[in-house]
Amino acid sequence: MSKNLEPTQKSLNRMDLTNYKMKIAIVYTSVTGNTKELAGILYQIFLMKEVDISIYRIEEFQLSGLSQYDAVAVGTYTWGEGEIPQEMRPLYHAFESLGKKEMVTAVFGTGDSFYPNYCGAVERFRDMLYVHTDLAATLKVELMPQLQDFIRCQKFVDSVRIRFKMKAVNKK
Ligand SMILES: Cc1cc2nc3c(=O)[nH]c(=O)nc-3n(C[C@H](O)[C@H](O)[C@H](O)COP(=O)(O)O)c2cc1C
Repeated sequence: MSKNLEPTQKSLNRMDLTNYKMKIAIVYTSVTGNTKELAGILYQIFLMKEVDISIYRIEEFQLSGLSQYDAVAVGTYTWGEGEIPQEMRPLYHAFESLGKKEMVTAVFGTGDSFYPNYCGAVERFRDMLYVHTDLAATLKVELMPQLQDFIRCQKFVDSVRIRFKMKAVNKK
């Protein structure tokens, strides 16, 4: 197999031969705990699937390692007037510079519909990820996740997994 293949291409080729586990990172930020809670629910759902899942607060995540993942799920609250929190901006720009169209991505977040730009940071990430990556899912939750959000979380996780599997099928 060629050494020059991109990590995702390598993964897809390996998946043909083995029970390759999709490598996923959840990278999130949270101040008052709502987005942390949502990230934790998504992590637990991913854990029940046949994937290699890691979860990081943005402060712990090495931007230089971004390209090693098959999929990245970004979690953010919204600040100011629909803005991306300061600590998430380097990650936003890292996706732009990486420009890795084959990377599966998803974005989730919590917001407060009291504000005119409800979950504006999720929308900003969504628009950028749609252009620069293979965006599979978006999820907005009102403040603290509730029981009824669980099915939406399951759909979010399934969308990421199915998008990655579809890539493998299309490559055959
Ligand atoms: C100063 C301030 C500005 C905010 N601006 C917005 C906003 O524009 N849109 C929105 O949906 N939520 C906004 N929020 C609400 C937070 O995004 C929301 O409470 C979120 O769930 C916090 O996430 P966390 O608990 O993970 O920190 C704002 C909150 C504060 C304190």
